[in-house]
Amino acid sequence: MTRHVVITGASSGIGAACARAFAALGDRLSLGARRSERLRLVAPAAFCSELDVTVPSSVEAFVHAAIAANGPIDVLVNNAGLARGVEKIAEGTGEAWREMIETNVLGLLEVTRRVLPRMIERKHGHIVVIGSVAGHKAYVGGGVYCGSKRALQPICEAIRMETLGHDIRVTSVDPGLVETEFSVVRFRGDQPRADKVYAGTRPLYAEDVAECVVWAAGRPAHVNIDTIVVMPTDQASPQMVHRTS
Ligand SMILES: NC(=O)c1ccc[n+]([C@@H]2O[C@H](COP(=O)([O-])OP(=O)(O)OC[C@H]3O[C@@H](n4cnc5c(N)ncnc54)[C@H](OP(=O)(O)O)[C@@H]3O)[C@@H](O)[C@H]2O)c1
Repeated sequence: MTRHVVITGASSGIGAACARAFAALGDRLSLGARRSERLRLVAPAAFCSELDVTVPSSVEAFVHAAIAANGPIDVLVNNAGLARGVEKIAEGTGEAWREMIETNVLGLLEVTRRVLPRMIERKHGHIVVIGSVAGHKAYVGGGVYCGSKRALQPICEAIRMETLGHDIRVTSVDPGLVETEFSVVRFRGDQPRADKVYAGTRPLYAEDVAECVVWAAGRPAHVNIDTIVVMPTDQASPQMVHRTS
């Protein structure tokens, strides 16, 4: 049986890699992102639609259209997310804080609350959250990003408790350093600065994280993978990275 897998933020990086991995298994996909023109290139057979998780009406339209196109949702991959800047709290701006919290926390909640009731009704479904090692340990200049990812832990715990007995699975996949567009976005398009984040080290690739997601979603229905923390061998904590140059 193929599954209906919904992936937010599938236009790039980890979300796009998840889309390709699920597509290779023959699953039915619904992909959303603001740069919707990219989605078709990621998985040509998927249902693709513009989605801004920070805009409730956009989320509502996306979830509605995804169900109309592909039927009830079996797996939701809450991947859309970003970091903006590395300013210390004393130097930060409300604009960047709001963008991170509205995308990483409120956006995820807006999508999840529109998908979860139908999963509860069907007594079947899997919510996957892309967290981060940043949610486990803060670092200088990452206070709000780390906080936004830390917030996902009690949200996942509460969903597990609130849906107990309804065969709903909730998995957090929490990666360390992954080479994607993440740092270009964080540094507002400054590619040389973004490149430095990965210089002289071997980061994870988006495909490594997608493998974790697909693996968790492929366990038997009675098995819930709670949290996967995955870092490159060259990383021991969010800020402790081995570099050869
Ligand atoms: N890269 C890392 O080192 C790393 C480590 C740990 C966790 N993560 C997490 O992994 C997830 C994916 O990031 P990535 O590394 O793959 O970065 P990426 O290449 O920049 O991808 C981010 C994705 O999120 C989407 N997105 C951002 N804001 C959105 C919004 N308002 N509505 C809908 N989609 C939105 C982007 O699409 P559009 O811009 O087209 O909307 C894009 O597809 C994020 O939650 C990030 O926090 C990344």
